[in-house]
Amino acid sequence: MNAIRELAVVTGASSGIGFELAKLCATEGYDIIAVADEPEIHDAAEKLANEGTRITAVEADLAQKSGVDKLMAAIDADGRPVELLLANAERGLREGFLDRDFKEIEHALHTNITGTLDVLHRIGMQMRERRRGRILITGSIAGFVPGSFQAVYNASKAFLNNFSFALRNELKDSDVTVTCLIPGPTDTEFFERADIADMPLGEMKKGDPAFVARIGFEAMMEGEGDVVSGWKNKLQAAIANVTPSEMLAEQHRELAEPGGGKPT
Ligand SMILES: NC(=O)c1ccc[n+]([C@@H]2O[C@H](COP(=O)([O-])OP(=O)(O)OC[C@H]3O[C@@H](n4cnc5c(N)ncnc54)[C@H](OP(=O)(O)O)[C@@H]3O)[C@@H](O)[C@H]2O)c1
Repeated sequence: MNAIRELAVVTGASSGIGFELAKLCATEGYDIIAVADEPEIHDAAEKLANEGTRITAVEADLAQKSGVDKLMAAIDADGRPVELLLANAERGLREGFLDRDFKEIEHALHTNITGTLDVLHRIGMQMRERRRGRILITGSIAGFVPGSFQAVYNASKAFLNNFSFALRNELKDSDVTVTCLIPGPTDTEFFERADIADMPLGEMKKGDPAFVARIGFEAMMEGEGDVVSGWKNKLQAAIANVTPSEMLAEQHRELAEPGGGKPT
């Protein structure tokens, strides 16, 4: 008789790094609950299905409590405990802070922070109770840089980079591990969605999402604290650490200011 397959939950699994993370979960023998807020998650689930892998697609807006409730209902309906949680969904947000409608800002914050924490809290409690589970949180090297003209996104990533290590420490006696994947620019739909593809930030050389996902997945399975994708990003993270914030914010302005500082 086949052993019961374990369950992985991947948020933001419809494209980019999340899709690649879900692919790795499938090839490593996990069944998957794959979540995103657009109907494309069903197409992604079809692509992910391989022989023997059960994929449940959940179309839910994780910025809303009702979306997280929907995900938890799918987990309850499955009946198995969550072995792997890959908290990866996010929403980018360009332009000056005061130039955005606050509703859009709230939605980004609720996706990147509140919804992510709600998922981590609910599934994390179950993992702690079982004294078993692995968590991967997708942060970003953007979290090391004050992101002028992308301030909310960068700050939300700073939150997650920081939060991840605190949660890891709180869980250190429980056999539940927390790992932060810290990618640099990666070739996904992020730049189109955030409407920054035509800015210097969007035109930077980007990494391969499959590579980024692989190093994140491996770090999670090894129970490491964090992993920065690629040596250039490691270098950039180290430099950001010793560069005055004022200078970092000014450099980011050059990359992300609408019109690129040129007359519009
Ligand atoms: N690409 C980069 O350069 C880069 C660099 C560093 C870190 N990262 C991080 O990598 C992670 C993945 O991003 P990506 O680059 O792969 O971008 P992506 O292709 O745009 O993927 C984002 C995913 O999040 C989902 N999502 C967005 N809002 C959601 C919501 N409210 N509820 C549920 N799902 C939602 C999207 O689904 P829908 O299509 O259904 O909205 C999509 O599946 C993010 O955490 C990002 O911050 C990316």
